[in-house]
Amino acid sequence: MKRVEDNNRLQMMSSDEKGIETENKEQSWKPFFHLLRSVKLPWALIIVCTLVNLLQSQLGLLFPQYTEKIYAGDFSREIAGTAVAVVLGKALCMAVYQYVGRYTSHLNQMRFQNYIWRKLSRLPLSYFEKHEPRDLISRNTEDTLTVGEFLSYGISRILSTVYGFAGAFILIFGYDWRLAASMAVCLPLCYIVGVIAGRYYFKMNNRLQGKLADMTRYFSAVLPYITLVKLFGQENREEKNGEDWIERYYKTSFCNTLVSTAVSFATTMTTVLQTLVIILMGVWLVRDGSIDIGDWIAFYMYANMLNNSFTIIMNIWGELKRNQGCCARIAAVTGIPAEENPGTLGAGEISGDMEFRNITFAYHEKKVLDNVSFTVPYGKMTAVVGPSGAGKSTILHLAERLYTPDEGQILWGQKAAGEYELHSWRRAIGYIPQDAQLFAGTIRENIMQGVTGDIGEEQVRRAAMQADALEFIESFEKGFDTEVGENGTKLSGGQRQRIAIARALLMNARILILDEATSNLDAEAEYAIGQTLKELRKDHTILMVAHRMDRVKDADQIIVMEHTRIQGSGTHEELMQSNELYRQMVDLQAERIAV
Ligand SMILES: Nc1ncnc2c1ncn2[C@@H]1O[C@H](COP(=O)(O)OP(=O)(O)OP(=O)(O)O)[C@@H](O)[C@H]1O
Ligand SMILES: [Mg+2]
Repeated sequence: MKRVEDNNRLQMMSSDEKGIETENKEQSWKPFFHLLRSVKLPWALIIVCTLVNLLQSQLGLLFPQYTEKIYAGDFSREIAGTAVAVVLGKALCMAVYQYVGRYTSHLNQMRFQNYIWRKLSRLPLSYFEKHEPRDLISRNTEDTLTVGEFLSYGISRILSTVYGFAGAFILIFGYDWRLAASMAVCLPLCYIVGVIAGRYYFKMNNRLQGKLADMTRYFSAVLPYITLVKLFGQENREEKNGEDWIERYYKTSFCNTLVSTAVSFATTMTTVLQTLVIILMGVWLVRDGSIDIGDWIAFYMYANMLNNSFTIIMNIWGELKRNQGCCARIAAVTGIPAEENPGTLGAGEISGDMEFRNITFAYHEKKVLDNVSFTVPYGKMTAVVGPSGAGKSTILHLAERLYTPDEGQILWGQKAAGEYELHSWRRAIGYIPQDAQLFAGTIRENIMQGVTGDIGEEQVRRAAMQADALEFIESFEKGFDTEVGENGTKLSGGQRQRIAIARALLMNARILILDEATSNLDAEAEYAIGQTLKELRKDHTILMVAHRMDRVKDADQIIVMEHTRIQGSGTHEELMQSNELYRQMVDLQAERIAV
C-alpha cells in the first residue's frame, strides 16, 4: 500500500514545492565548463558550424547593399550576378549549417550520454535509493539532448546573431541618421516589452512543466501497482485522483495559452510599431529628397534584420539559463564520486574465514547495526536469525560491500575487505537476495548473468539442476530460452529464487550468501530449496539469513540478532539451552506449523 500512500502524499504537495528538480540550487557556469572539459566533444565540427553560420550572417549583411544598387537602377551583370551569388551562398551556408549542426548535435548527445552512463553504473547504491530511475533517465535523455543541441546549433546561432545584429546596427547609421535614431529609440521599448513578456512566459512555462511532471509522476507511481489498486477496491478513488491531476495540468495549460498569446501579441505590436515608424519616416524622407528609394529599401531590410536578431538575442538568456540547469542536473550525477575501490588484491582464490569485526552501520541517520562481531568459518554453514527489521539483510549487504560500515571492518582470509578489488570481491560471493531480482531476458541469460568467459550449456544445466530449477525450466515450452518478463514477473517467487540460486552457483563463488525469502515459496519449493542447501553446504561456505527455524537446526553456527545487536550465538542445541529469544522463535514457529 506504500505506493498508494505515496500518491496521497504526492497529492498534498504543491507543484511549486517540487518544481523541476535541480540539486544545485545555486546555479553557476562551473558545471557547464566542467562538462566541456570532461567530455570529448567534436570541436572541429562545432567550429565549422560556427564559421559557416558567421559566413551566413555576413552574406545576409551584404544582400541589402546589392538590392539598394538594383533599385537605384544599376542593372549591370556584375551587380545582379553578385546579388544572386550572395543569395545562393546564404542558402548553401544554411544547408551546411543545418546538416553539420544536426550531425554535431547527435555526436554531442551520444558523448554526453556515454559519459553519464559510465558514471551512473559506478555510483554507490545509496545514490540510487535517493533518486528515482525516471529522473536519472531524463538526465541521460532530455538534458543531454538540450546541451548537445546547444553546443552545436546554440552557440553558433548566438555568435552569428550577435555578429548580424552588430553589423546591421553599424550599417543603418550609414544611411540617414534620422531613420537610424528612430530605430534606436524603438529598440529599448522592444527590450522592455521583451523582458517583461519573457519573464511571465518563463514563469508560466515552468509552472506548466511542474504540473506535467506531477501528472506523469502520479501515473507512473500508480500504474505499476495497479494490482494493489484492484485488491483494495481503489479504482474509483484513483480514477478521481487521476482526473484531478489531469484537470490541474490543463487549467495551467489554458492559463499558459492565454499568457503566451498576450505575450506574443505585445511583442508583435512593438514590431508593428517599429515598422510603422520606419515606413512613415521613410515616406517623409523620400518625399523630402533626403534619401532615395533604394536607400530606404536597404535600410528597411537592415531594420528587419536588426529586429529578428533582437528577438533571438532576447531569447538567448532563457536558452542559457535552461542549459545551465541541464548542466547542473547532469553534473549532479557525474560529480558524485564512484564507489570506493582502492583495493588491489584478487579474491578469486581466497580460502579463509570471513570476519565481521565491531561493525556499526546506519542507513542515513538510522542505526541498524551496533558493534556487531562474528565469524563465518570457512567451509561451514552460518545462519542468522532474528525478528523482522533486526538488521539481518543489512549484514549481507555489508558482506557484499554494497554499503561500507561506518565503524569496524569486514575481513576475509585475515585481510580487510578494502584491500580486495571490489569487483573480484563481489565475484567471489554468490549472493541470493531476499527478493530475487531478475533482468528482463531469457532464463539462460539470467543464470549466466554473473559469469564472464565461455560457459557451456552443460554447466548452465548443472547449475539449474543443483538449484532444483531444471524441472520447472524444462516444463516451459521454450525451456532455458523462456523470457522472464520485466523483473521476472512471468515467474513465481519460488522460481525466481531458484534461478537466483542457479545464477550464484554458476559463478563458482567462494562463499554463498543467501537471504531466504520471507514469502513467495510454496511448501514444495521450500522443501526443494532446503534440499538444495543441504547439497550445497557439502562444498560451500554458506552465510544465510533464515526465517524458518527448522532450516537452521543443523547449521554449524547460528547468530541470533535482535534490534541492531547480536543477542547470542551457538548451535541449535546450545541456543535452545541458553537463549530465550531463540527458544521463543523456535516455539512460535512450531505453534504456527501445528495450527
Ligand atoms: N535501504 C535502506 N534505507 C533505509 N533504511 C533501511 C534500508 N534497508 C533497510 N532499512 C531499515 O533497516 C532496518 C533493518 O533492515 P533489514 O532489511 O536488515 O532487516 P531484516 O532483519 O532483514 O528484516 P526482515 O526479516 O523483515 O527481512 C529496518 O528497520 C529497515 O527499515
Ligand atoms: Mg531481510
